[in-house]
Amino acid sequence: MWGGRFSSRPADIMQAINVSIGVDRRLWAQDLAGSRAHCRMLIQQGIVSAADGQAILNGLDQVQAEIEAGTFPFRDQFEDVHMNVEARLSELIGEPSGRLHTARSRNDQVATDFRLWVRDACDRTVAQLQALQSVLLDRAEQHAGDLMPGFTHLQTAQPVTLGHHLMAYVEMFGRDAGRFADARTRMNESPLGAAALAGSPFPIDRQMTAAELGFDRPMGNSLDAVSDRDFALESLAAASICAGHLSRFAEEIVVWMTPMFGFASLPDDLTTGSSIMPQKRNPDAAELVRAKTGRIMGGFVALSTVMKGLPLAYSKDMQEDKPPVFEAFDALDLALNAMTAMVRALHPDTGRMAAAAGAGFSTATDLADWLVRELNLPFRRAHHVTGAAVKRAEALGVGLADLSLAELQSLEPGVTEAVYKVLSPEASCASRQSFGGTAPDQVRARIASWRERL
Ligand code: ARG
Repeated sequence: MWGGRFSSRPADIMQAINVSIGVDRRLWAQDLAGSRAHCRMLIQQGIVSAADGQAILNGLDQVQAEIEAGTFPFRDQFEDVHMNVEARLSELIGEPSGRLHTARSRNDQVATDFRLWVRDACDRTVAQLQALQSVLLDRAEQHAGDLMPGFTHLQTAQPVTLGHHLMAYVEMFGRDAGRFADARTRMNESPLGAAALAGSPFPIDRQMTAAELGFDRPMGNSLDAVSDRDFALESLAAASICAGHLSRFAEEIVVWMTPMFGFASLPDDLTTGSSIMPQKRNPDAAELVRAKTGRIMGGFVALSTVMKGLPLAYSKDMQEDKPPVFEAFDALDLALNAMTAMVRALHPDTGRMAAAAGAGFSTATDLADWLVRELNLPFRRAHHVTGAAVKRAEALGVGLADLSLAELQSLEPGVTEAVYKVLSPEASCASRQSFGGTAPDQVRARIASWRERL
């Protein structure tokens, strides 16, 4: 491409460190879309003749056919996807191919291609998140009234419902989808026409290429257009937060599946066995969803480290923008699909969960609240009395509801028989009617409102 200025070929090591076709060939569809839009604009503006322009467009169709057929020769000697396409175009149509790069640089070309790729990736991810949410909604509805222990510090805290627990993830994945959608809106401006860095002396129409590629408008500063990778970073940040959510959920599935918890199981086709321990059923998919977070968050760290300290405008460092983004979105794609499959197939042991919901003095707060409500005790005093009741029950090896009335009255004389009504986990859950609370009615209302939103 630059033989006019150079008298020797690149050294092997120069080629080895420079070549990116193995990675950026994934941008071929975006590269062709960008070239077509650019070519049509060159024709419309009279920068390239209709005949040459048409020859280029036909040649690009041939390139696409070859790529789709798997016969396109991707060659290291042409460095990247842009030059591979152009080199092949030249072989296919000859002289007119040399006019395609008028008023364009690889700098605005790659910025455009990569934006289009990341935009698609964000759209795909939003669709996957919505699919996961919709499976979660079904499972939450099915278990809106099934009890499980709610935890803080992974210590039994208060009874909740499994539906409520699952709905917490619907909220998280909803915010994740919102972050990808926000990133998409901000990234949807076209770098094409910024050329190398300063803009172009040709009478190009940047509005036209922007519109053709589905961008809202052209970017407003040519230096920024070729050197900005915020869109990739922002998407990686959204991906990292989403991966964190997936990882928390995956961790819960791992914990639920351990025999000591025994809260849930997954079918054979979503678990693995052990080559030595015949009894094992391992939640490998959940563990790998948990682990994929490393690659995804690593992608954000990798790209922000590449970008930090780069002077304006383009530097070749920026070629290192693609591997972390491709790797992160590949990992997120797998993790979202695996999580959706697990949520669909998860088999909760509702009996065991309900039993655990009533253990661990989980209704102690309900007793304290009753003392405040019915006997007008200050909450701190009620907390103290309840603590003493828990201590007594623990010493006797029974639950709170098993303490006799006399026992309770020895701690607080005003207690009556009515107190036992609030000590069951069912009553505890049903009483939490505050907006967003775990009462089955509230959970069902939230499910309905999410169904509408989706
Ligand atoms: N392969 C390059 C990249 O991904 C394309 C842009 C090259 N531009 C240049 N001035 N060398 O960044």
